[in-house]
Amino acid sequence: MTNNLTVIVLAAGGGTRMRSKTPKVLHPVCGRSMLGHVLHAVQTLEPRQVVAVVGHQRELVGPHVKELLPDALLAVQEDQLGTGHAVRVAVEAAGGIGSGTVLVAYGDTPLLEGESLRAFAAEHEAAERAVSILSGIVPAPFGYGRVVRDADGDVVAIVEEKDATPEQREIHEINSGILAFDAAFLAEALPQIGNDNAKGEYYLTDCVQLARDAGLTVGAYPLEDVLQTEGANDRAQLADLGREMNRRILTRWMREGVSVMDPATTWVDADVELAQDVTILPGTQLLGATVVGEDAVIGPDTTLQDCEIGAGARVVRTHGQLAVVGQDANVGPFAYLRPGTHLGEGGKIGTFVETKNSTLAAGAKVPHLSYVGDAEVGEGTNIGAGTIFANYDGVAKHRTTIGRHARTGSNNTFVAPVTVGDGAGTGAGTVVREDVPAGDLAVSAGPQRNVEGWVLRRRAGTAQAAAAEAVRDSAHTASDADVDGVGGTPPPGGES
Ligand code: UD1
Ligand code: CA
Repeated sequence: MTNNLTVIVLAAGGGTRMRSKTPKVLHPVCGRSMLGHVLHAVQTLEPRQVVAVVGHQRELVGPHVKELLPDALLAVQEDQLGTGHAVRVAVEAAGGIGSGTVLVAYGDTPLLEGESLRAFAAEHEAAERAVSILSGIVPAPFGYGRVVRDADGDVVAIVEEKDATPEQREIHEINSGILAFDAAFLAEALPQIGNDNAKGEYYLTDCVQLARDAGLTVGAYPLEDVLQTEGANDRAQLADLGREMNRRILTRWMREGVSVMDPATTWVDADVELAQDVTILPGTQLLGATVVGEDAVIGPDTTLQDCEIGAGARVVRTHGQLAVVGQDANVGPFAYLRPGTHLGEGGKIGTFVETKNSTLAAGAKVPHLSYVGDAEVGEGTNIGAGTIFANYDGVAKHRTTIGRHARTGSNNTFVAPVTVGDGAGTGAGTVVREDVPAGDLAVSAGPQRNVEGWVLRRRAGTAQAAAAEAVRDSAHTASDADVDGVGGTPPPGGES
């Protein structure tokens, strides 16, 4: 195959059946736009030039193309007069196409694979045809252009649904829409395409007949995996293609050595990277650019978007976004990792813990019921249950720094900005407003005072008072017996 290849991607259509303010080709499938999937496949052929035809909502579609493929050329088709017109616009925008092969594809076929395009282009070039059709044999051909063959089986035309005779409508070989052209032939044929047909459109498919009329060769190659050329026209089809792509992605990862306990409830985006011996438990979504290291176990019921999970880590019932979890670390159950969370090797972010913009060094642990925001927690430090890093004073956010091997008590509040030194400690219920030097113990609550009998006086007649009274009565009886046993002294009174 030469790399004298031009690819034209048609993406000017409205996609009205999506009923969306988002252009059809920008709707995502497995974390990538439909158009992104097509451009990804196209890119693997290393074409000389890629031309994207944009029209409807080109202010959104155009920049998306340029972001994914900066070298692509945008051709603007103001009015969608048909696929033949769209290709003519592309060729004009490119200032002609010279020689070589021109491949035409659509922007809404997310399952398309580069390998299929490559094989198709190679066959087209080897056969030295003017036009090649990537066709498909489908059970329900309604709506597609049909590949019409003569008695010898040679392709003679593509006839659109609306222009087809009842006999032609019985044909199950359809035009996928992907066509390959000899560039010189295409340049000659485009101006000859008319719009005298049922839709009044310029049909690119008329090139087949034009080639035949000129005595040139045409051919059709059925692609067995017809889903690769299937487009999504509405959201129901979008969901179907999404499920199918997810199934294919999971199959690929399972073949690479990833265990997926329940593929039906597991979703993995196209750009996710999984190492060997990763295990994914049911109800898990791995999204965006998430990367998971060897032997890590994710799930059940976990969603990770753009996260990096280290080898051997365990992440249970967790929602994470833009977080980094170190090797052999533990997260969850019921953790919320917000952007900027960095958990070090062997660390722990435990149950009902929310973290944000915080670094926990190796071996640091926040096991229970805490909020850790804008914090630095040193190596080997343990944060007590029910701790709040009070990072927000109502106006600005501030940071808390806790040193190495510190032990902070339960139910602490760190009022940022504040620093706790290496090896320091805090008592339960401490509100840490001032820095704690290394090795000191901070306590902020006053000494405890028990107000004798308060409940009996102030809550008389309640269940609380009755419960207290019952204990105090039995204490009296016991001490009476005791005292009696020792012989004599009357018990001290219960009043204060
Ligand atoms: C087209 C083919 C048909 C094929 C089918 C496969 C023609 C005449 N018909 O029909 O043989 O079986 O695709 O799905 O080619 N587009 C533009 N500008 C236009 C018109 C279309 O960019 O002026 C784009 C659309 O956005 C879409 C693609 O080209 O991505 C196909 O257009 P569509 O109108 O859907 O063609 P079909 O009628 O489905
Ligand atoms: Ca279509």
